[in-house]
Amino acid sequence: MTRSPAERAREAFAQLFGGRPTLLARAPGRVNLIGEFTDYNEGYCLPVAIDRETVVAARPRRDGIVHVVAADDKNREDRFSLDAPLVPLSNGHWGNYVRGVFAALRRQGHLPGGAEMVIAGNVPQGAGLSSSAALEVAVGQALKSMFRLEVDATGLALAGQRAEHEFAGCQCGIMDQLVSAHGRTGHAVLLDCRTLATTPVPMPEGTAIVVVESGIQRGLVDSEYNLRRHQCEQAAAHFGVRTLRDLSSERFNAERGTLDTKAAQRARHVIGENERTLAAVQALRDGDLAGMGVLMRAAHVSLRDDFEVSLPAIDELVDLLNSAVGSAGGARLTGGGFGGCVVALLPAAMTAQLRSAVMRGYRTPQGTAPVIHVCSASDGAGVLA
Ligand code: GLA
Repeated sequence: MTRSPAERAREAFAQLFGGRPTLLARAPGRVNLIGEFTDYNEGYCLPVAIDRETVVAARPRRDGIVHVVAADDKNREDRFSLDAPLVPLSNGHWGNYVRGVFAALRRQGHLPGGAEMVIAGNVPQGAGLSSSAALEVAVGQALKSMFRLEVDATGLALAGQRAEHEFAGCQCGIMDQLVSAHGRTGHAVLLDCRTLATTPVPMPEGTAIVVVESGIQRGLVDSEYNLRRHQCEQAAAHFGVRTLRDLSSERFNAERGTLDTKAAQRARHVIGENERTLAAVQALRDGDLAGMGVLMRAAHVSLRDDFEVSLPAIDELVDLLNSAVGSAGGARLTGGGFGGCVVALLPAAMTAQLRSAVMRGYRTPQGTAPVIHVCSASDGAGVLA
């Protein structure tokens, strides 16, 4: 049996630092059901915190030194002093998420001290399930609990997002960190990315959340993510609104003629996606998986044609899943796009059928069978007993 992240973190901690950690903090990865690229437009999204998590085993130090070890990266380490200004490491280094959270918490006025930390997790990396948000929020949670910082779940999420902006170079929205901090077992979470309000929405009984890894590695920083964000801001500025959240479809349709074509496509996606997300909340509440499926398919078409963040191989995988699920549910590309994962919602009884359809019909670019995760909606960040 594979050992859990908590067991691995505890064991590596004893080996490397000696003795026991003061605490183990955890935070989950996420899969977004609908509401894509709406977060940085102050709109709505509807993600689920999944039962794949990052665990941080931690113990305070008195000398202001932070010593972090990544158990999943051959025990590679990062070490820095809180007495010197915090600076990012080279691009793509996992240590940036840790450093970034320390820096962000300090900017929020908190004073985390030095620490020994071991990180271990089972959120697939680079697959679009927010392993980085899980790491940021788990580190934040460990620091909050160890140093009794007066920061709430939303504050931890904001610190994680700031780490992305200032240390990892990705201008991401708040979705991943917010749901990693606020997830709820058995629920999706409606996020209002303007007010940062989070509302748990029960998953209908007997629904399976199936995530298929396309095997196409993605990197937000390297992708066109920041460019899309810029185009959305351009569109908002053109209409003289604060963000696309403030643009109605009526006004957009009436006045879009004067807007640059690409910016207009991006805006149309965001406006439609906000509407679909609110409709999806209702569909879940009504236990209407078929209705949810219709919305997910429409969301995929919009991501493919208007936001242009899909790839031909991803479209094929989505089509395959949608044919296997039929009108009983639906599937779409999820997360930041250009690879990563596809998510399907379906009656749990159809999971085996879906799995064999995928195994028969899809191969990753490396020619291997794709990894399939059947996920359940889990709680957000916390401390393990
Ligand atoms: C990534 C970002 C999120 C969000 C999604 C797209 O996951 O980190 O903030 O913008 O892409 O919905």
